[in-house]
Amino acid sequence: MATRATTLLAPMVGIVLLAAACAGGSGAASKTPADRGKALFVQTCAACHGPDAKGMVGLGKDLTTSAFVKEQSNPQLVDFINKGRPATDPANTTKVDMLPKGGNLALTDTQLMDIVLYMRTLQR
Ligand code: HEC
Repeated sequence: MATRATTLLAPMVGIVLLAAACAGGSGAASKTPADRGKALFVQTCAACHGPDAKGMVGLGKDLTTSAFVKEQSNPQLVDFINKGRPATDPANTTKVDMLPKGGNLALTDTQLMDIVLYMRTLQR
């Protein structure tokens, strides 16, 4: 009796595990950090930097060719985005504010790192 129950149970457990694996695979878990960063970039940063990060006149700068982005390490860029660069900052070149977190204060450091990893894929 016990043996029969076990032989029935084993394949069932296997099916449940397989279903769980598939559900995870099609969800957000299968996305790379750069994929997640792209979605966040489009939501928050594209308004000023453009959907392709090539910049918009009078708004954000081109991030694909930015020497600043190239020079900074990933943690340094997360730090930079957290703080922004106000028009009053001597390092500001456009006299337009780069807002802290691009104005989306809900962004976490993990999300900012995802955005940085996405920006790395755009660099030329
Ligand atoms: C409200 C408009 C605006 C938004 C939204 C915005 N930025 Fe900016 N960003 C700017 C401006 C303007 C500058 C240029 C500042 C200057 O003149 O030095 C800038 C500069 C930068 C720089 C430095 C580039 C360089 O070469 O000096 C980085 C990196 C950057 N932004 C990343 C981001 C990221 C990532 C986001 C989204 C989280 C974002 N920005 C959202 C306006 C914006």
